[in-house]
Amino acid sequence: MLSIQKWKCSWSLAAAIASIVALVSVVHLFLFPFGPSFDYFRETQNACVPINGSSEATTNHVREDLRVTADLDHRFPADLHKGDIYHDAQWKAEIGQWLSGCNSITQEISIAEIIGGINCKNGCSGQGVCNRELGQCRCFHGYSGEGCSERLQLDCNFPPSPEQPYGRWVVSICPAYCDTRRAMCFCGEGTKYPNRPVPEACGFKVNLSSEPDAPKLIDWTKADLDNIFTTNGSKPGWCNVDPTEAYSNKVQFKEECDCKYDGLWGQFCEVPVLCTCINQCSGHGRCRGGFCQCDNGWYGIDCSIPSVVSSVRDWPQWLRPAHIDVADDAHLTAKVVNLNAVVKKKRPLIYVYDLPPGFNSLLLEGRHFKFECVNRIYDDKNATLWTDQLYGAQMALYESILASSHRTLNGEEADFFFVPVLDACIITRADDAPHLSMQEHMGLRSSFTLEFYKKAYEHIVEQYPYWNRSLGRDHIWFLSWDEGACYAPKEIWSSMMLVHWGNTNSKHNHSTTAYRFDNWDSIPSSRRGSHPCFEPEKDLVLPAWKRPDGIPLSAKLWARPREKRKTLFYFNGNLGPAYPNGRLEASYSMGIRQKIAEEFGSSPDKKGKLGKQHAEDVIVTPLRSERYHEDLASSVFCGVFPGDGWSGRMEDSILQGCIPVVIQDGIFLPYENVLNYGSFAVRISEDEIPNLIKILRGFNETKIEYMLANVRKIWLRFLYRDSIMLEAERQKTVFGHVEDWAVEFLRLIEDDVFATFIQVLHYKLHNDPWRQHIHVEKDFGLPRECLIGTD
Ligand SMILES: *[C@@H]1O[C@H](CO)[C@@H](O)[C@H](O)[C@H]1NC(C)=O
Ligand SMILES: *[C@@H]1O[C@H](CO)[C@@H](O)[C@H](O)[C@H]1NC(C)=O
Ligand SMILES: *[C@@H]1O[C@H](CO)[C@@H](O)[C@H](O)[C@H]1NC(C)=O
Ligand SMILES: *[C@@H]1O[C@H](CO)[C@@H](O)[C@H](O)[C@H]1NC(C)=O
Ligand SMILES: *[C@@H]1O[C@H](CO)[C@@H](O)[C@H](O)[C@H]1NC(C)=O
Ligand SMILES: *[C@@H]1O[C@H](CO)[C@@H](O)[C@H](O)[C@H]1NC(C)=O
Ligand SMILES: *[C@@H]1O[C@H](CO)[C@@H](O)[C@H](O)[C@H]1NC(C)=O
Repeated sequence: MLSIQKWKCSWSLAAAIASIVALVSVVHLFLFPFGPSFDYFRETQNACVPINGSSEATTNHVREDLRVTADLDHRFPADLHKGDIYHDAQWKAEIGQWLSGCNSITQEISIAEIIGGINCKNGCSGQGVCNRELGQCRCFHGYSGEGCSERLQLDCNFPPSPEQPYGRWVVSICPAYCDTRRAMCFCGEGTKYPNRPVPEACGFKVNLSSEPDAPKLIDWTKADLDNIFTTNGSKPGWCNVDPTEAYSNKVQFKEECDCKYDGLWGQFCEVPVLCTCINQCSGHGRCRGGFCQCDNGWYGIDCSIPSVVSSVRDWPQWLRPAHIDVADDAHLTAKVVNLNAVVKKKRPLIYVYDLPPGFNSLLLEGRHFKFECVNRIYDDKNATLWTDQLYGAQMALYESILASSHRTLNGEEADFFFVPVLDACIITRADDAPHLSMQEHMGLRSSFTLEFYKKAYEHIVEQYPYWNRSLGRDHIWFLSWDEGACYAPKEIWSSMMLVHWGNTNSKHNHSTTAYRFDNWDSIPSSRRGSHPCFEPEKDLVLPAWKRPDGIPLSAKLWARPREKRKTLFYFNGNLGPAYPNGRLEASYSMGIRQKIAEEFGSSPDKKGKLGKQHAEDVIVTPLRSERYHEDLASSVFCGVFPGDGWSGRMEDSILQGCIPVVIQDGIFLPYENVLNYGSFAVRISEDEIPNLIKILRGFNETKIEYMLANVRKIWLRFLYRDSIMLEAERQKTVFGHVEDWAVEFLRLIEDDVFATFIQVLHYKLHNDPWRQHIHVEKDFGLPRECLIGTD
């Protein structure tokens, strides 16, 4: 802080203060009591400018309160599995002891949050949002340049050739009007509905096969302009079809056309609806197809960051209550000025990078299918429609971090740095449009993804001072795809990886997906390095996204008691080539499901045979019943085996209260490096597959009841409740009513995914050995014995 006491009231100071005061009144400072940090301002104000305020004596009471001592060695006995209970979960002993001893007595500390005031060139020309921390524009889709004044030409089609007049096939392929800001296809001028989308197959001829059940083939070389532009009501049309007439069967429309883009509803896109944006722009902006167009004064991917020109009254919860203060160098810089707001917070503090939108919002904004990348869309009443996208966890966690009280804008004080690259979006959109071409990546989505992460790394190293302090070890990346952080570029490996696939590569030391385009074996080590996919010492496996559904929740399937679980073992999923529609590749599921089916298959295979050891109370079937969740909840043990990488079966099992039986050697599951798996799960080695059922029958009732009880204690740690409740609150604010799923979720109060994540970060903050030498002088809000390296 500036030591201004000694200053005389010089002209330059008076000028500086006058300008600050002007600013301060813009932010309605008078609404808030002045805090201690405003002291210097008051000292000078008497002489120079009148300003109202009351002062309260500054004390060091925060530090004083920290004299509570934590007895880490004696207060917390371990259970028979060397676990330690904290918030009802059985943590690995050392983690649990630390958490129950230290997390529970963490104190709030005062953090100076920096409220940006830097302007952007030309105010981003109305075609972008100004990041006022850096003074850099985040341009909307199709705009670029320092002030977003450049208009990009993003074609829908690859260059034409005589054989392929619309270029080679790509999702964005378009014979009608291409909106070159987004590479999306519309009916265009001259039609009755110029803004009606013409997605993919809609605009091209369909080759009708003589066989009735054969799949339809689209001829990508022949546009079907006749049908999309026709005004003749007896032909199947599209761009001139009146929805009311079509719904009442008065006119025909082309089947391949329908409403695939986000923000529009109805077969003919005739109903405007909300589209999906991160945190729905936090009430400070408008969602344009996935990119938040923030109100003046706000910025960030979700418009959650105020600047000096936004009203303090509207600041988000995580910046409250704030004591406003003016930054040290305010008098030095001609460009105005950041404000400091002193906020009481608990560590761990997370700084979230506001990356250029190419890493996230532009991938959302240019989506050709509303369901891809996101975990919710909105229906014709603007009610939330949750999706089954297993990759939705990435968005859920991101939203929770952005709205969390652990978030900070002060990188100097931050304990962790979250780098929000959305790989779930990059992968689903690889080769989606010419500007997302994989041409230089041998058709490998893995390689394509790696490049995005590398670019994000380069950006933060170039633009921010934080990476080098710890060589990136306090940075956090989420790689949510099938094989997690296997695709991480070598430059970022020192960071913490959040994944769904914890392959330590101790046994499976190569790509484990059978899906060719995701394989990473051929990515050269000059790019990937030779790191494993997961290091338990630093990384964390998080649960996949499961759709929040009020009905199974209210049925409390997770709590179903032992006596209602008649099936000993249950697994449902693709079991390989022996079964109808089975995956053909021997490497699918690393061969595991195939072996299980051979032994215990309970449905006849193509040859009509059951598994060698099939039994009445064992279900291993490729057939999913309507009652999938009930089936899981009627079983004692449920199989957790790989698919192409992870398969979401761990979540299915836990959420239905079933004891998970994990078979994947050397590959960690959610929280396996922090929770005491022995107390609620069974791990069986791949070699033991033939003995699976024999092993399970060996567990006595006491042990089974004990494990079931533990599953019940931790089940909510596998749901993204926090992010779901954020959505519920938004919906309540807008519509004033609470939906069924929200009512059910409101009743749950135990720790969820996000709470667990924060607990893990808190543990890491004080126990990661590399931190010993970094910023030990900070105020951590913890007694000495909880800190490392301070003695
Ligand atoms: C400052 O205080 C005076 C006297 O108490 C009051 O009349 C005036 O409205 C106050 N101004 C502001 C901006 O609060
Ligand atoms: C569609 O049919 C035409 C001629 O009948 C043929 O030349 C073309 O290859 C077919 N296209 C596809 C995708 O099957
Ligand atoms: C409309 O299309 C039908 C069927 O293709 C055709 O018989 C009719 O002549 C067309 N009408 C006009 C006005 O073109
Ligand atoms: C849903 O939201 C869209 C976009 O804000 C709006 O145009 C539409 O009127 C809303 N619909 C309803 C039923 O509230
Ligand atoms: C960070 O370290 C790299 C390599 O050690 C160096 O090239 C770069 O200039 C450093 N960046 C900053 C901001 O200090
Ligand atoms: C992978 O494991 C196999 C045996 O399981 C071993 O022969 C091979 O050297 C390992 N490769 C690497 C890169 O570690
Ligand atoms: C049940 O099994 C556990 C070990 O898995 C053992 O310690 C316990 O004594 C057994 N209880 C009974 C009643 O057999």
